Amino acid sequence: MATFSAYSVVSSFTFLHSIVPRTNQTLCLSVCYRSPAKSRRLAAYLHTNQLQTKPESVVGQYSPPLFSVAPMMDWTDNHYRTLARLISKHAWLYTEMLAAETIVYQEGNLDRFLAYLPEQHPIVLQIGGSNLENLAKATKLAKSYGYDEINFNCGCPSPRVAGHGCFGVRLMLDPKFVGEAMSVIAANTDVPVSVKCRIGVDDHDSYNELCDFIYKVSSLSPVKHFTIHSRKALLNGLSPAENRKIPPLKYEYYFGLLRDFPDLQFTINGGINCVDEVNAALLEGAHGVMVGRAAYNNPWNVLGHVDTAVYGAPSSGLTRRQVLEKYQVYGDSVLGINGNNRPNVRDVVKPLLGIFHAEPGNAVWKRKADAAFQHCTTIKSFFEETLTAIPDSVLDSPVGTAPSGRKDLFTSVRGLMPAPYESRERTVAYAGS
Ligand SMILES: Cc1cc2nc3c(=O)[nH]c(=O)nc-3n(C[C@H](O)[C@H](O)[C@H](O)COP(=O)(O)O)c2cc1C
Repeated sequence: MATFSAYSVVSSFTFLHSIVPRTNQTLCLSVCYRSPAKSRRLAAYLHTNQLQTKPESVVGQYSPPLFSVAPMMDWTDNHYRTLARLISKHAWLYTEMLAAETIVYQEGNLDRFLAYLPEQHPIVLQIGGSNLENLAKATKLAKSYGYDEINFNCGCPSPRVAGHGCFGVRLMLDPKFVGEAMSVIAANTDVPVSVKCRIGVDDHDSYNELCDFIYKVSSLSPVKHFTIHSRKALLNGLSPAENRKIPPLKYEYYFGLLRDFPDLQFTINGGINCVDEVNAALLEGAHGVMVGRAAYNNPWNVLGHVDTAVYGAPSSGLTRRQVLEKYQVYGDSVLGINGNNRPNVRDVVKPLLGIFHAEPGNAVWKRKADAAFQHCTTIKSFFEETLTAIPDSVLDSPVGTAPSGRKDLFTSVRGLMPAPYESRERTVAYAGS
């Protein structure tokens, strides 16, 4: 029977902290807490986990991350990012999209939305919005949190977003506005700015229209990096989840952009499920690869290989038991920090639900988890009650062999490449000749 050697942690202390850049370019940890006891426990947590206070941020020449975890609303929250960082030291982590309006209207409560553990570097803040003034103000307010990059959402098809004026993927229809927005964002930050978009919207799905968008945004603003979710979005009739499945992936559009915009940097996204496939994309010339659902649903097997197989760095060598021990310390330290018992045990455990993906005991563990959510008030007690379902051999092994993927995922792309982009300038010149 598995036992779980928990850290001795008291569950109810609360803390919030953020990193604040000083003018001399060094970083300090500013800790906001409600009692000296909490402060001591936070210090212990930081010490135990040897958290870095210096971000692994891009200095000098910008190049996009080789591997990043996609922004995912309600998924890539602080809890998930803490778990992800325990598994991979090198993956870049994106926040969930945060609306500029939320940042602006919650000015007095910003830690709740923007604070994160310093170990989460390198970390990218994704913002969304359609009001230049709010985008400027939100970027300025976020500056002191020391994100490594600001990304602008031009890919979200959710009616919650797309229906509110021109927001999310609808912005692909207005590249001039996106250019202005990116200039405004860039003017209010000193870190790189980037755009995440789809390959098209509704009937505006030709390769040339995508190129027009990229061309205009990059000409009108300092954006040099685009993340391309390689399927279009359909604004009417599909749910957000369907919009991530039904429109077909067209990786050839992504590789067309690499060919036609050699001065820009592009990250490929959509349907990439494991490090084999990440490396296949990089071998094919991708500047960077972003993985979303697979990194959430199967974090151990996907993120566990990123440091070694993508970055050529040593593995942390941690077992799942050790990761969970560290996560428990974090989890018990944040329970209830937002008031009204939030986050609760279920919120904090949610990102763990894929950690035993396809392992013996997983189904029983999930059943036990459902029952434990009803009464457990600490992560420690949750683990004590549920981890008995998982064999020691699973809990105590470091990351194993990487699951094999479709190494040929991109080989057919060469035969499908779209005709080279004819820029508007060139079209106009030809018309006049
Ligand atoms: C639950 C969920 C929430 C998402 N939220 C966002 C978001 O806030 N911003 C964004 O740009 N994309 C969002 N996406 C899209 C992902 O970033 C990514 O582009 C998409 O899932 C395709 O990548 P994948 O096939 O690797 O999952 C979300 C996806 C999921 C599954």
